[in-house]
Amino acid sequence: MSQDLAHVESVAREAGALLMGHFARRVTIEYKGEVDLVTEADRASENLIVEHLRARWPQHDVVGEEGARTDTGADFRWYVDPLDGTTNFAHGYPVFCVSIALVRKDEQLEVGVLYDPSRDEMFAAERGQGATLNGKSIHVSQTETLAESMLGTGFPSHKRHKNPNIHFYQQLTLRSHGVRRAGSAALDLANVASGRYDGFWEFNLNPWDTAAGALLVQEAGGMVTRFDGSPFRIDSHEVLASNGRIHREVLTNFAEIFAGRGLEELPSPVEHAKTRG
Ligand code: IPD
Ligand code: CA
Ligand code: CA
Repeated sequence: MSQDLAHVESVAREAGALLMGHFARRVTIEYKGEVDLVTEADRASENLIVEHLRARWPQHDVVGEEGARTDTGADFRWYVDPLDGTTNFAHGYPVFCVSIALVRKDEQLEVGVLYDPSRDEMFAAERGQGATLNGKSIHVSQTETLAESMLGTGFPSHKRHKNPNIHFYQQLTLRSHGVRRAGSAALDLANVASGRYDGFWEFNLNPWDTAAGALLVQEAGGMVTRFDGSPFRIDSHEVLASNGRIHREVLTNFAEIFAGRGLEELPSPVEHAKTRG
């Protein structure tokens, strides 16, 4: 492992410890939008991470979800999600992480580090060097079909009335072993990289949610694209990640759903109410 990667891991670990300190106390919730939460912990974690990155790599740019920005047009830019899974965190549900990625010329994913402090799990990847979990190599699953797959997805807190994902959620649930909705897109991607999920998709994500996790999936042997199969880019808001083996089949299913074909009616609660004893 390169010294640079080790340094980013130590920064993520420190930020994770900070988050756990806040998690143990009750946090005060503020709102960025109608249901878009932010806590003191998000900001403290971002400050800590950004200070460390700027100290070690003063020549690099930085974009943090909570507002940190250095934009000098540098070739290298860090994307920081200081707390992915804020809604879980604020409700005391221990599924959240720190996500840090280095991207070159806003195209090439170079480094991805994702730390889950509740489980003490450190996911790390460097371009061309494979992906690891707590220092051991990880690989995507070998599941061959959608029918045998377990998947993950997520729903945004902002613009949630405009999101069509409930249809994809319903259809993919009926066509697989099930779809989990755990509330941390970055961890969802790490779950694909480590073979715990066979695939994951979400609409409307941001680079700080996806950059580290996308590199983890790629370095673990998986595939990351948009919903039409075109390559994932740092500014792609839609993300489909998988073990590669089921990718084509999921894309075909997505194309059918986008075309409105083969959709089963959602069961009517009104009709169901009439049949209840
Ligand atoms: C959110 C989480 C969630 C996803 C949302 C993201 P945040 O990030 O990744 O799983 O469904 O779209 O915004 O706000 O907790 O950093
Ligand atoms: Ca996030
Ligand atoms: Ca966040």
